[in-house]
Amino acid sequence: MTSRMSKRACLSIVLAAGEGTRMRASRPKVLHAIAGRSLIEHVIEALRTIDGPIAVVVGPNQQPLRDAVQAIVPRATIFEQSERRGTAHAVLAARAAFADQRSDLLVAFADTPLITAATLRKLRDALTGDVVVAVLGFRAADPSGYGRLILEGGRLVAIREEKDATEIERKIDLCNAGLMALRGDVALQILDEIGDDNAKREFYLTDAVAVARGLKGDIAVVEAGEDDVRGVNTQMQLAEASDILQDRLRRAAMEAGVSMVAPQTVFLSADTKFGRDVVIEPHVVCGPGVVIGNGVTIRSFCHLEGARVDDDATVGPFARLRPGARIGADVRIGNFVEVKEAEVERGARINHLTYIGDARVGAGANVGAGTITCNFDGENKHRTDIGKDAFIGSNAALVAPVRIGDGAYVASGSVITEDVPDGALALGRARQMVKQGWVPRWLTARGKKPS
Ligand code: UD1
Ligand code: CA
Repeated sequence: MTSRMSKRACLSIVLAAGEGTRMRASRPKVLHAIAGRSLIEHVIEALRTIDGPIAVVVGPNQQPLRDAVQAIVPRATIFEQSERRGTAHAVLAARAAFADQRSDLLVAFADTPLITAATLRKLRDALTGDVVVAVLGFRAADPSGYGRLILEGGRLVAIREEKDATEIERKIDLCNAGLMALRGDVALQILDEIGDDNAKREFYLTDAVAVARGLKGDIAVVEAGEDDVRGVNTQMQLAEASDILQDRLRRAAMEAGVSMVAPQTVFLSADTKFGRDVVIEPHVVCGPGVVIGNGVTIRSFCHLEGARVDDDATVGPFARLRPGARIGADVRIGNFVEVKEAEVERGARINHLTYIGDARVGAGANVGAGTITCNFDGENKHRTDIGKDAFIGSNAALVAPVRIGDGAYVASGSVITEDVPDGALALGRARQMVKQGWVPRWLTARGKKPS
């Protein structure tokens, strides 16, 4: 075996053709999400740091998965493994992408979402000197179900799948994480030589080790932490992976200066962004696409998704920011306020029980309790535009499309269907009637004594 002359390119292959039957769900396993991202997206994000193309192997009839992959990395090449005949067979489904033998292969599983870029790089970089195969191993607290790394004199000689292992081999706790790097000039030869002589009659990628040994190539083992390589096969394991990832995200946020009163009750997405001096009170959920500026406080029981909150704003308690909510600097969003697809400009106040959708709320405006932008007419959505320093009295219904001018006032309880000019007062409610002495007359008529 000759040693490598120069650093090759690296092709990453993500295996996702499994059926994921143990999830007992109609959605493909690797499209289940943790921290606001699908399992396969986590893996692909980690692979982005590896220089080189990405190939994804999917099964037949997996259009939703193909679409999802293409949305994540448009440049990924998708291959179909028409029959599910094992992990080596799956890698060979992408054969056309590495048949020229010019690039090394880095094989990752789409169901191993906690893998980090650093671990992937370590595995890829292990292909130096005469190493032709690098295996990612870990010490499992409970090794059952995993392939075991069989060492002889400190050298890896084989990987044994649980089903094929002896009693003694099953006691080994050094397990195969599933990920593997193969040197480009021999990868195809190794993969083609793998057979299906095992309990499941599948072509196991793990047999690359025994084959490489036959070719007198060196094999490297890179050890990872168990949490990095946890596979997700069941709903329970999905929840466990989610737990670990949430813990990582909270820690990263707190290390960057975010204050969390009860971190274990705060749920973040992989892409949640925080500025400086942010306080997150208990029980807050950040879905995908949340960007929080400096000095912001998110009070208890808020749900945010696709929302931006600018410097020194306060949100909640009990507020819901939906996609397209853009909360300006110094804004106050109070309890039971829902904002969707709306720009709330600097210093505006929306403190209680309000729905603002498809709207702009101008700087310094005050939106009273119970205000509703009536944005939907049963067929279409329409916009509401509230000018700067406008005052919307409590319990107003603003029937869109409608514009409230700068500095205009809307009286409480109004139903506003026509534009209100700058500085005007609009009243859109029934005039109050007062009937003097009505109560005693009514009581007397019913034979009761007025007090
Ligand atoms: C695999 C490893 C095992 C390792 C474990 C780590 C093999 C033979 N076994 O077992 O040593 O300890 O992962 O989690 O590699 N897939 C395909 N096509 C197939 C079969 C699988 O694309 O024909 C994909 C699956 O979608 C999945 C991955 O390969 O992403 C692993 O398959 P899975 O059946 O989950 O393997 P394990 O039994 O977990
Ligand atoms: Ca698995």
